[in-house]
Amino acid sequence: MKNNKPVTFSGIQPSGELHIGNYLGAISQWVDMQGNYSCIFCIVDYHAITVRQDPKKLNKNIREIAKIYLALGIDPKKSVIFQQSSINEHTELAWILNCIARISDLNKMTQFKDKADKNQEKVTVGLYDYPVLMAADILLYNTDQVPVGKDQSQHVELSRTLAKRFNKRFGQTFRIPGLKLRKQGANIMGLDNPEKKMSKSAESKNNYIALTDAPEIAVKKIKKAVTDSGSEIKYDPKNKKAISNLLTIYSILDNKPINNLEKKYKNSNYGKFKDDLAQIVQNFLKEFQAKYNRINDKQVDQVLENGADKIRPIAKQTIQRVKSKIGIN
Ligand code: AMP
Ligand code: TRP
Repeated sequence: MKNNKPVTFSGIQPSGELHIGNYLGAISQWVDMQGNYSCIFCIVDYHAITVRQDPKKLNKNIREIAKIYLALGIDPKKSVIFQQSSINEHTELAWILNCIARISDLNKMTQFKDKADKNQEKVTVGLYDYPVLMAADILLYNTDQVPVGKDQSQHVELSRTLAKRFNKRFGQTFRIPGLKLRKQGANIMGLDNPEKKMSKSAESKNNYIALTDAPEIAVKKIKKAVTDSGSEIKYDPKNKKAISNLLTIYSILDNKPINNLEKKYKNSNYGKFKDDLAQIVQNFLKEFQAKYNRINDKQVDQVLENGADKIRPIAKQTIQRVKSKIGIN
């Protein structure tokens, strides 16, 4: 990891299936950043256990996420892929940052409020503290950029706040990370409801296209997707939310600017546009799934082990620096 490239860090939880929103908002950015950044991509298993997990399924999901990263184009020769729990310094730094973070910081976190709302009684301390562990992930590796979807912006902002507060109190220690959002695609909306983000916890499976959906199922979901009134294919996220969302998906998957697509479909109706988009989604899934199926568990274990070995020294250096600043070395 010794080069002068800026550092990028991001991660996804190994809980449940991923959908094209995760790819379009987060992972597609990661793929594009390889080469220009020192890239570190994490499987955040300690975040996953903030809600109840079946141990066997969790263990399987960890490898599955690694396979998904690889099959979507994260190249272990260029990027580090690793499992959060294999580097102890994540939880160690999280504890120290817990003593910098204030209850008032965490009380502002909208994701916690949304999740806790649904389950007041059973919500864990870990879920409340989740953003502090995320800040530890980011700050441990002197991260410059954190490429995520829009729903994570508040958490990245918290990591900036904690880094600045620590630096102010103890002297320059942490680099201040930047948030990296896609201009378009940072917030992919549900296919059945373009008012709300695409989410794996949505009530209907027609809300999202899972990366593991059979291509024929994905085609059906696109054809069923809600459209707006009128018939024009125009990017107008205020007044034409549904079609703007579909245009965004098309544009990223097919690597074509939205205004080219608007021109292409100037004289077409929604039907033709959806047929073409369905074909593109189908091709994307077929290619992804073929790659995914070729990766075996042994390969994955090797990638994860090598990844952790490569970056462990950075984590150790950071924690030493932090401990010496606060007087416990
Ligand atoms: P999750 O595991 O769903 O919390 O998200 C993993 C990554 O995907 C994070 O960077 C999220 O911000 C991103 N993401 C999740 N849902 C969407 C969405 N609907 N649109 C864009 N990005 C998303
Ligand atoms: N909270 C992120 C999510 O749910 C996952 C995550 C954990 C993460 N640690 C991170 C993302 C560090 C970016 C950087 O999507």
